[in-house]
Formats: sequence, structure tokens, C-alpha cells
Amino acid sequence: MKILVTGGAGFIGSHLVDAYIEQGHDVVVLDDLSTGKTSNINPKARVVVADVNTNVLDELMAKERFDVVNHHAAHMELRASLLKPLHDANVNVLGSIRLLNAARETGVRHVVLASTTAIYGAQVQFPADESHPIAPLSPYGASKYSMELYAEYFRRVHQLSVTSLRYSTVYGPRQNPHGESGVVAIFLERFIDGRQATIHGDGEQTRDYVHVHDVVAANMLASQHKLNDVYVVASNTEVSVNELVRLMRQTITIPIDVVHGPKVKGDAPRTLCCADKLTNHTGWRPSIGIEQGIATTAAWFIRTKVK
Ligand SMILES: NC(=O)c1ccc[n+]([C@@H]2O[C@H](COP(=O)([O-])OP(=O)(O)OC[C@H]3O[C@@H](n4cnc5c(N)ncnc54)[C@H](O)[C@@H]3O)[C@@H](O)[C@H]2O)c1
Repeated sequence: MKILVTGGAGFIGSHLVDAYIEQGHDVVVLDDLSTGKTSNINPKARVVVADVNTNVLDELMAKERFDVVNHHAAHMELRASLLKPLHDANVNVLGSIRLLNAARETGVRHVVLASTTAIYGAQVQFPADESHPIAPLSPYGASKYSMELYAEYFRRVHQLSVTSLRYSTVYGPRQNPHGESGVVAIFLERFIDGRQATIHGDGEQTRDYVHVHDVVAANMLASQHKLNDVYVVASNTEVSVNELVRLMRQTITIPIDVVHGPKVKGDAPRTLCCADKLTNHTGWRPSIGIEQGIATTAAWFIRTKVK
């Protein structure tokens, strides 16, 4: 199949490109390299450096007539979105509408969208599945839910086949340690550099961490089965920041220096999600537990730092 991966130079997108290429597909990456890196991109992929919300996307899709479009390009700095909601909407809402419309016009057989459980805001049901109330606390969350609503419109009115995958907190090799989210990457980078990491609050806040390889597997199933619905992709477990640090101590031999700082306003105390719908429909299950995931991710960060 001919597949377009937007955001294919980024953390999750670049792993998707590898997996599609491994399956023998012809892959084109569209990425503006704002946070992604060319070194992440599989050399067998063709690359277009452009903003997703421009004519370049329309022209590319009209010319290539993709079978599958996997949309991972996004502005995803949650706290930055509080300061710059307009930029967020431009990429995450308008860029997504442009992509969905071009998919409809060019006969794309299936679209996969990267959404997020951040659309739930502060969780009120544990674990959270697809029926959790939507209550985003950031423009980022609002923009991602808006993308899902447009997908629903294209699905209903234009019969476009679209899967929205709501990820919990994704971690693994190639995650950008310079962003504001991605505590695993941020902490590992700091420890490897011999710097101190700050735990906001008492460190007992939890997240549902899902490994990028499991996220890739969910995307492969979505593309293959044309799931055409909304699915949570999560590990169904919660891990505190203190527990993460303990696992890092157990895994890496370099000194681990942490300090507790003030709690971040609006930081959710608990996140625990449930991917049973995806499991029931496809057999997908998270395969990498947090201990193994932290060990292999730490090994990757150490290896790439040494190079
Ligand atoms: N990492 C997580 O924990 C997580 C959780 C939920 C959802 N998501 C979603 O997954 C997707 C990928 O996230 P990631 O963690 O790999 O982030 P990332 O920043 O590593 O990847 C995003 C990629 O999109 C590119 N990009 C950004 N704006 C663009 C634009 N206007 N035009 C073209 N390319 C653009 C960036 O250069 C980058 O390569 C995003 O849509 C994000 O909202 C991620």
C-alpha cells in the first residue's frame, strides 16, 4: 500500500514509518521538522518537508493517491498551548480538517488519527475508557477533540473510514527530551547528563504509561482492519513518578539525583485508562511492561548519548 505518515520525523511517527516499511509498504513522510528530526526517518521513506496546513499537503495527496493516511503531525506542548492557543488550533484543528478533506477528495481508503486521553481533563472515572466524559483542560486537549469531531462528520456524511486512537502517556526510544511532556525522556536525559531532575509535588501523581512499540502495534491493526471508530490505547496500569524514578535507579548505574519542586497547577493527580475495546475488537494487548520498557528506553538513551 501507499501510505502517508504526517509527523513521521517525530517520536511516534518515526516508529510507525519503520513498521510500515518493515511490512513492505511505500511510505511518504510529511513533516515540518519543528520538533522532529531527519535522523529519525527511515532512509527507505520519501520525505516532504512542509507544514501540514498548507497546499503542499493537498498537492501531495492529489498526486500520490494514498491508500492509508496516518496523521501524527501536531503541536503537542500542553502547557505551551495555554499560551498559544491559536497556533495549536492552526496545526491540530485546521491541519486535521485539511487532511480529512483531502483524504475524502482523493479516495483514501483509511485514515488513522493520533488523539489523546488528555481530552478527558482531570479523570473522574477509573479506569477511563472511550465513554469517559470529555472535559479538556487545555487548548491542546480541545484541539484534539475537535479533530475527532471533524473525523466523525467525515465518517458520517462522507463515509470516510477513520480511526481515532486516544493514547495515554506514550514513552520509549526517540522521545524528545527537550519538550515539556514526556517525563521518562526528560528524566533520563538529565540523569545521563549528570543533572538533577525535579519531581513536581510529592511524586505520587500517576500516569498510564504505554510503550511506543505497543502504540505502533495498535496503529498497524487500525490500518489493517480499518477500524473506523474511536479507541483508547493504554497500558491499563498506573505508575507514580516516584515509582518511575525507583525503576530508573534499578536500571541505570549512573547517579540519579532528584529534588521535589512545587506542584504544577492543573496537573492531574491520577491517570488510568482502559483499552479493552481495542483488545476485544483486535486482540491487541500491551506487551511491554513498565520495568522492561524503562530498561530498554534507558539503554537506548545511554547508547545514543555515547555516539
Ligand atoms: N507522546 C505522547 O505521549 C502522546 C500522547 C497522546 C497523543 N500523542 C499524539 O501523537 C502524535 C505524535 O506525538 P509525538 O509524541 O511523536 O510528538 P513529536 O513532537 O515527536 O512528533 C510530532 C511530529 O509532527 C511534526 N509537526 C509538528 N507540527 C507540524 C506541522 N504543522 N506540519 C508538519 N509536521 C508537523 C514535528 O516536527 C514532529 O516530527 C501527536 O499528534 C500527539 O498529539 C502523543
